[in-house]
Amino acid sequence: MCRVMAARESILIFDSGLGGLTVYREVVAARPHADYLYVADDAGFPYGELRDSALVVRVVNLISDLIEAHRPDLIVIACNTASTIVLPDLRRKFSVPFVGTVPAIKPACAASITRRVSVLGTEATVAREYTRTLIRDYAQDCQVTLVGSKELAAYAEAELAGTPVSDEALSAEIAPCFLDDGKRTDIIVLACTHYPLLLDRMRRLAPWPVSFVDPAPAIARRVVDLLGPPSPPARSGTTHAIFTSGSTPPAVLARFGIRSDEPVPTSLR
Ligand code: DGL
Repeated sequence: MCRVMAARESILIFDSGLGGLTVYREVVAARPHADYLYVADDAGFPYGELRDSALVVRVVNLISDLIEAHRPDLIVIACNTASTIVLPDLRRKFSVPFVGTVPAIKPACAASITRRVSVLGTEATVAREYTRTLIRDYAQDCQVTLVGSKELAAYAEAELAGTPVSDEALSAEIAPCFLDDGKRTDIIVLACTHYPLLLDRMRRLAPWPVSFVDPAPAIARRVVDLLGPPSPPARSGTTHAIFTSGSTPPAVLARFGIRSDEPVPTSLR
């Protein structure tokens, strides 16, 4: 008897390191029966310190190899530093649908009561023309403070590795986000996917309560919109991880439900 299996759906999630896990956890909750490949380009970390042209070439080449090897149905570039510069090239070169991660300036400015919003990202992301254009288009009457951090992505990696930095070090990185000119900043856009990994500590260390905007739930909704209604699952989804340094994926992935002990199949389909 011949049984027709429902087509599998495969989603590739890409970042420079572990920050994309904050996006992965939302996407997998919204689309639990897909197969996932989490790719951390840790050999290139931190992306915030790469020259723009080098970053574009690096990401385009890596994505090209990954498409060839794994044939994903959709790719999430779970990295603001890459998305704000590489997405046009990726969309031009490959027919796979891409979902990017860019600073959530529009919803933050729409929601701010004090009209004081800060955008916390890598130095590269806050310097990008893409980010400046979002401010021009969506800030309305909000005063938007751009804060580029050299250290926070590495602090987030250290946090997950079980070697957290001190409160003083973390406070120093987030301090420029808190503006008080008679009206206080009330919303901080987390414009780097690593930063939600530090959210509990940032809330605790904030000099006054603010809302932090994590774009991951919106990214998950966009993935679901693009893929359409899921076909009935033949089995539950799997997740594998690749680290471009060739190092064994860290045990901490288990906390996100990712198995790090199995080689990645050549094709996830
Ligand atoms: N997670 C990345 C982002 O969203 C970048 C961290 C880095 O590699 O500098 O921007």
